[in-house]
Amino acid sequence: MKLSVPGRTAAAVAVAVAGLLTTSAISTAAPAPKADAPKADAPKAAAAPDISVANVKAHLADLQSVADANGGNRAHGSAGYKASVDHLKKKLDEAGFTTSVQEFTAGGDTGYNLIADWPGGDESKTVMAGAHLDSVSDGPGINDNGSGSAAVLETALTVAREQYKPTKHLRFAWWGAEEIGLVGSSHYVDSLPGGDSSKISGYLNFDMISSPNAGYFVYDDDPTIEKTFKDYYAGLNIATEPDDEGDGRSDHAPFQQAGVPVGGLFTGAETTKSAAQAQKWGGTAGEPFDKCYHSSCDGASNIDETALDRNSDAVAYAVWGLSS
Ligand code: TRP
Ligand code: CA
Ligand code: ZN
Repeated sequence: MKLSVPGRTAAAVAVAVAGLLTTSAISTAAPAPKADAPKADAPKAAAAPDISVANVKAHLADLQSVADANGGNRAHGSAGYKASVDHLKKKLDEAGFTTSVQEFTAGGDTGYNLIADWPGGDESKTVMAGAHLDSVSDGPGINDNGSGSAAVLETALTVAREQYKPTKHLRFAWWGAEEIGLVGSSHYVDSLPGGDSSKISGYLNFDMISSPNAGYFVYDDDPTIEKTFKDYYAGLNIATEPDDEGDGRSDHAPFQQAGVPVGGLFTGAETTKSAAQAQKWGGTAGEPFDKCYHSSCDGASNIDETALDRNSDAVAYAVWGLSS
């Protein structure tokens, strides 16, 4: 199924309609778009909100505290993982989401996926955004993947704050046991009732989106989702690169295998930033995008706040643009 971005379409239609009203009725050519401010009565597309990076950082501080209180990590099977789930669930319940915790077993331990549905919208066209919430056992997992978890959480809370009423149904997900083989997301996809994967019109994945030596990678999978993220970055005048090392390395993989259109963002893991990449993105050439990848130093300071802000706003841009 192809996704559309009605915000853009509506704007294009508005320009075309305005043009017809002001040019000869027999003219068939669309007039060149003008840079003028939109007319007061122009149809308004639901504009994606700015996501507060301060709020996203507060969620990261909470996840760091959870790790601190539970032996330094939030890994599958640990008390820190379950505490992370409970913390997010409470916030989502209070905001008006319908939440559920899906249990599974992996490596002899119980794992949990947290699913939050925003009531309303066409459930046969569900847009999902997700992130893995587990860390490795070596550290608190703040960039990997507190960053994606916090950005998706703040986007969901903003949906509630704005009482957003999208045409499509919205579902947010935080996966367990990604770090031991995409277990939670695979379990979710395998457990979908027959045919239900076709009701998911897109799955957006956010895993490592604030690497301290950040790159700006956009998954090159579904063309419509990819274009949505590229349009967002084009608006900021920031070059992106297709993520070609990600295939199969995060929770979008099981969705993609089930035929769901997927996309996402990534700021880089253990790979070294090239001179050309440092030229366009800043940061340090010859060093990894995240030198604390899967280690104990992936803590509260292991983030690039600018990348976190941009990518959090990009999450909302895509959620709004693909669901309206
Ligand atoms: N999923 C990996 C992890 O959690 C990180 C990773 C490496 C990744 N390459 C990627 C995520 C590309 C998304 C895209 O350890
Ligand atoms: Ca922001
Ligand atoms: Zn990860």
